[in-house]
Amino acid sequence: MFRLAISTGGGDAPGLNGVIRAIVLAAIHRGWEVHGIRKGFNGLLGEDAVVPLTADSVRGITHLGGTILGTTNRGNPFNWPVANERGEIEMRDRSDELVAAFRRHGFDAMIVIGGDGSLRIAHALFKKGVPIVGVPKTIDNDLAATDVTFGFRTAVQTATEAIDKLHSTAESHERTMVVEVMGRNTGWIALFSGVSSTADVILIPEIPYRLERVFDKIRERYSSGRNFAIVVASEGAIPVGGEEIFQTETHSGVKRYGGIAEHLAGEIAEHTGVETRSLVLGHLQRGGTPTAYDRLIALRFGAAAVRMVEAGRFGTMVALHPPEVRAVPIEEAIAQIKRVPVGGDIVQTARDMGIAFGD
Ligand code: F6P
Repeated sequence: MFRLAISTGGGDAPGLNGVIRAIVLAAIHRGWEVHGIRKGFNGLLGEDAVVPLTADSVRGITHLGGTILGTTNRGNPFNWPVANERGEIEMRDRSDELVAAFRRHGFDAMIVIGGDGSLRIAHALFKKGVPIVGVPKTIDNDLAATDVTFGFRTAVQTATEAIDKLHSTAESHERTMVVEVMGRNTGWIALFSGVSSTADVILIPEIPYRLERVFDKIRERYSSGRNFAIVVASEGAIPVGGEEIFQTETHSGVKRYGGIAEHLAGEIAEHTGVETRSLVLGHLQRGGTPTAYDRLIALRFGAAAVRMVEAGRFGTMVALHPPEVRAVPIEEAIAQIKRVPVGGDIVQTARDMGIAFGD
């Protein structure tokens, strides 16, 4: 019997469970067996389990956030941290071990659901002979070769609702609120949620900002009698000639985006004299019920990935090329990240509505 493995890796995104459900049901429909690798690739490295997936395992999960398989964004089999005899951390390549485990389990193919990091690993495993089909996933929407990824619209909805709520409190207190949203080095979430919620300033990595321009916009608001302002900052936004702001985890030394909202709020308060508060939406954007649209993409991606496995189209990733879901080489998806087109109509719409980008 054909044995299919599934793994979900990297940061979670609303819709992952829909993909898993569609894969499992479409595979069972073909008379195949399906197994879930727990926590990214960890299940195949003895760090977690490999679990059988049946129609019962995927009952009632389409509307649930997260992933029933668990995930990690610290599990790269090609670069695995291992403590040596002196207790120092060394990076080891455990990919051969992973390939051997894949064969030992008698798997015929694997569907890897992941963002740019997991798809890079998937591509490298494919080159080592593992028959892999990829499914793109990220709330950041930064994957090239697909029109959109599931999870992105849910994240935008969450951010938009949060910013909507900030308007009333900002207005009551005559404050400026600076909201930090996710997106790594792309500004998709900031742009879409900022325009939808009528922010006054949107800062995205694709358009480096000048603090003076941000202050100007805020002063202009207050002097025109609109005594509050909303600034939406993508976590990876950069000042002209400057750098992104990261936080370093004290226990692991891992660098993560974070801190731009607090930084901007301090600068705005100091230079404009306006009372300013900051808010980091953080992982709220990754949680919760996927929107109907994200569920539909998730289910379509899952079913399409099974069709690609059936057709033997390994090394490909399913992608949305409206109105169709197609297969594209994984290589194409990881070759570059998809950034906001600064001359595109959404940026133009924002500018036409008086929203400032700090440039
Ligand atoms: O890539 C998805 C993402 O949510 C980014 O937007 C964010 O910078 C990062 O993951 C956060 O990752 P972690 O789960 O390590 O906090």
